[in-house]
This record gives sequence, C-alpha cells and structure tokens, in this order.
Amino acid sequence: MQKYIKLLKKIQSIVPFHIKPKFKNEQDLLNWNKKEGLLSSKSILRKNKARKMKKIFKNSGIKKLYINCSFENYKTFHIGQEKVLNASKKYVKNFNTQFSNFIFSGKPGTGKNHLAAAIGNYLILNGKSILIITIADLMSKIKKTFNLNNKYTEEFFLKKSSEVDLLIIDEIGIQKESNYEKIILHQIIDRRSASKKSTGMLSNLNFNNLNILLGERIIDRMKLGKLLCLNFNWDSYRPFVNINDI
Ligand SMILES: Nc1ncnc2c1ncn2[C@@H]1O[C@H](COP(=O)(O)OP(=O)(O)O)[C@@H](O)[C@H]1O
Ligand SMILES: [Mg+2]
Repeated sequence: MQKYIKLLKKIQSIVPFHIKPKFKNEQDLLNWNKKEGLLSSKSILRKNKARKMKKIFKNSGIKKLYINCSFENYKTFHIGQEKVLNASKKYVKNFNTQFSNFIFSGKPGTGKNHLAAAIGNYLILNGKSILIITIADLMSKIKKTFNLNNKYTEEFFLKKSSEVDLLIIDEIGIQKESNYEKIILHQIIDRRSASKKSTGMLSNLNFNNLNILLGERIIDRMKLGKLLCLNFNWDSYRPFVNINDI
C-alpha cells in the first residue's frame, strides 16, 4: 500500500493542474481499494454459487425444455391457469415453513411440468436440492441395481431420492404400476414424510384414478400436512410452443 501512496503523490506532483485525479488523497485510495476488494469477493461468491447451482441443475433432472420455465413465463388466458400459477407461487413462498406435498393432474400439455420446473428453478436459486424424475426412470435406476455388476444398491437410490429437499415424480399412470413399484413408491414417500420432506406428483390421471392406481397407503402419506391438489383441465399449450425460442 505504501508503494501506491508514494506513487500517488508522485503522480499528483507531475500531472497538469486541469486534470482532476481520481483519488485526492491516501484515504480516497484506501476507500477505493476496500470497495474494489468487496466487489471482487462478492463476484467470487456469485461465481461459486453459480457453479454449485450448475452442479445441482445437472443432477436435478430439469430437462433442457424446462430449464427456463418460471412463474413469469407461464401465460394465463383464463381463471384455471391463474389459479394453478398463484397456488404454485404460494407453494414456494411457504416451502420453508409449511410441510406440504402436491399433485398436479390433468390433460397433457397444460403446463404441469412447466410449473413443476418453475417451482424447482425457484427453489434451487434459494439453495434447495430438487430432483424431478419420471416414475419409469426412477424404477429403471432401481431395477438395474439387481444386476450384480452394478456398483449401486437399491438402498442407495432409495436414500438418494429420500434425501433431496423436493422430489417430483413425473408421468405417474403412463404405465400400469406394478406391486413392486408401489412398494418402492410407498417406501420413498414414507421416508420423505417422516423427515418432513415434500413430494410432488405429476399425472395425466385425475385424482380419483390416481387414488385407485396408487392405493390408500401412498395417497394417505401424500395427504400428510397440507396436500395441494391442482387440476389442469384445459387444452394443450403445445401447439403454441416455438421450440426454437427455447
Ligand atoms: N400457460 C403456459 N404458458 C406458457 N407456456 C406453457 C403454458 N402451458 C404449457 N406451456 C409450455 O407448453 C409445453 C408443454 O407443457 P408441459 O408443462 O410439458 O405440459 P404437461 O406436463 O402438462 O404435459 C412446455 O414447453 C411448456 O413450457
Ligand atoms: Mg408432463
């Protein structure tokens, strides 16, 4: 620092009078240095956070199509869309204080994944870990552990899916769930609710059919806390999506 102060003094003695120096005295230089130091440490913090987020995003299972989904770009043309949008916003606002699971059910293309990703993207920015996975992918990961050459065990995936702050299971009901799948689902939801970790489900089935498919044991666990059930019953938005804009 002494070196810079000396240099500052030297510069002051030789610059023409009409040129206004950036620093009038040592204190100015010291203040500037402090401010710059603070700015650069903030930028390092931001960069680290971004790096960490990238790692979480990679593991979050938010697919490319949904990486930019937010509450802001969910368009509302009628009261039904307004209702699901507002309820999703409220859900993330209360995430830390109110334990609640959710079920988004209804027609394809209506924005169930859009709002689930918006919830996920919002929570990731707030330091939460999330996993969005189709039931088929989850089961295939678990079933692969039956192979003796697989380095992971069934327990590893059960633990992994029970630990994230929010687990969203997609495409429930696309295939007929087997008894084994129901046992696994029950175990995951049971472990999660025991540690007050929320679970979301996305399905094209209506709530009644979902009830029948999953059975009372699973639905009962989902009802712990305050279950948010949202129906997406309007025409698909897909014809309006310009894939090149995403
Ligand atoms: N209300 C909406 N505003 C903007 N984009 C929407 C809306 N509803 C759906 N989309 C978009 O339409 C596509 C299909 O929606 P998606 O969420 O995958 O439907 P679902 O999961 O209900 O089948 C996605 O690209 C999504 O971002
Ligand atoms: Mg979907």
